[in-house]
Amino acid sequence: MAEIPKRRLGRTGLLVSELGLGAMDTPTAAEGPETLTTALDLGIDFVDTAREYAGSEFLIGQVVRARGEAGFHIATKTFSHGADNSQRDVDRSLSILGVPRVSLYQLHDISTPQAWEEVMAEEGALAGLRVAQYRGLVDHVGISSHSDEVVRRAIERDEFDTVMLEYSAFFPGTSELIDLASEHDVGVIVMRPLGGSGRTSAMRGLISEGYGGPLTPAALLRYVLSHPGVSVAIPGARYPSRIHENVATVQAYEPMGAAERRELERAAAELY
Ligand SMILES: NC(=O)c1ccc[n+]([C@@H]2O[C@H](COP(=O)([O-])OP(=O)(O)OC[C@H]3O[C@@H](n4cnc5c(N)ncnc54)[C@H](OP(=O)(O)O)[C@@H]3O)[C@@H](O)[C@H]2O)c1
Repeated sequence: MAEIPKRRLGRTGLLVSELGLGAMDTPTAAEGPETLTTALDLGIDFVDTAREYAGSEFLIGQVVRARGEAGFHIATKTFSHGADNSQRDVDRSLSILGVPRVSLYQLHDISTPQAWEEVMAEEGALAGLRVAQYRGLVDHVGISSHSDEVVRRAIERDEFDTVMLEYSAFFPGTSELIDLASEHDVGVIVMRPLGGSGRTSAMRGLISEGYGGPLTPAALLRYVLSHPGVSVAIPGARYPSRIHENVATVQAYEPMGAAERRELERAAAELY
C-alpha cells in the first residue's frame, strides 16, 4: 500500500501526513471511534481538534487509551483569550486526551482585530501557551483564523509556528497568504478543504443524481494539495468510508495545473 506523502509543517520541523483529519464533527456519528482508528491505521498522523468541539478531545482520548499511546500528532485549540484560561485549557486538554503533551496548541478562531489584541496582550492567551510550552506540555504554538488580516499579522509577527486558514476551490482567495506563510516558514493547516459540510452534502446529492462534472471530493482535495505551500489539509469526516476515499486520493494523484484549477473554481462557484 502506498504511503501518504509527508510534508514539513513549517518551522516546527515536523513531517506530517499531507492528509490530516479534522475531528470537529467525528464524535457526532456512532462510527466516530472507527473513523479515527481507520485514519490512524491508514497512515494519517495529524488530527485536529479543539476544546470547543463537543466530544472531540474525549473521542481522541478514548482511542489513545485503547491503543496504549498516541503515536500521532494531536493539534488542539483554546477559545480563551486570557493567559490563565488558556493554561487551564491546556491542562484540561491533556487530561481528556490522555497524553503528557501535544504537538500543537492553537489559538482558536482569532478573527477580529479586538480578539487579536486580546490574545497578544501581556496577559493574553499566547502568553499562557508560552508557559505551557515552558512546562513541556505543548511542543509548538499556532493560530486559527477566518480573517485574512489577522492571518497576515500572525505570519508577519513571526511568533506562531503554524496558521490554520480556510482554502479550497470554493475559497481560493487565501492562496497568497499561503505563499506569505511559506516565506516566513510558518506551517499551513487548511481547514474546510472540501468547502464545508453544506457544500459537500450538496455535491454528494448532485453526484448521486448523475452529475458528471469536475466537482468531486477527490478533485477538491487535489486542488488544495496542489498548492506547494500547504503543509496539511484536514478534511472533516464522520464516517470511515470518507477516510478510505480521501486516503486513496492522496496515495496516487497528479498535482493540478492552472487550467484544471480554474475549471474547478468555476464549477465550485456555480454550485451555490
Ligand atoms: N479553526 C476554526 O475556526 C475551524 C472552523 C471550521 C473547521 N475547522 C477544522 O477544519 C476541519 C474540516 O472542516 P469542515 O469539516 O467544516 O469542512 P470540510 O472538511 O471541507 O468538509 C467536511 C465534510 O466533507 C465530507 N467529506 C469528507 N470526505 C469526503 C469524501 N471523500 N466524500 C464525500 N464527502 C466527504 C464530510 O462528510 P461526513 O462528515 O458525512 O463524513 C463532511 O460533511 C474541521 O474538522 C476542523 O478541524 C476549523
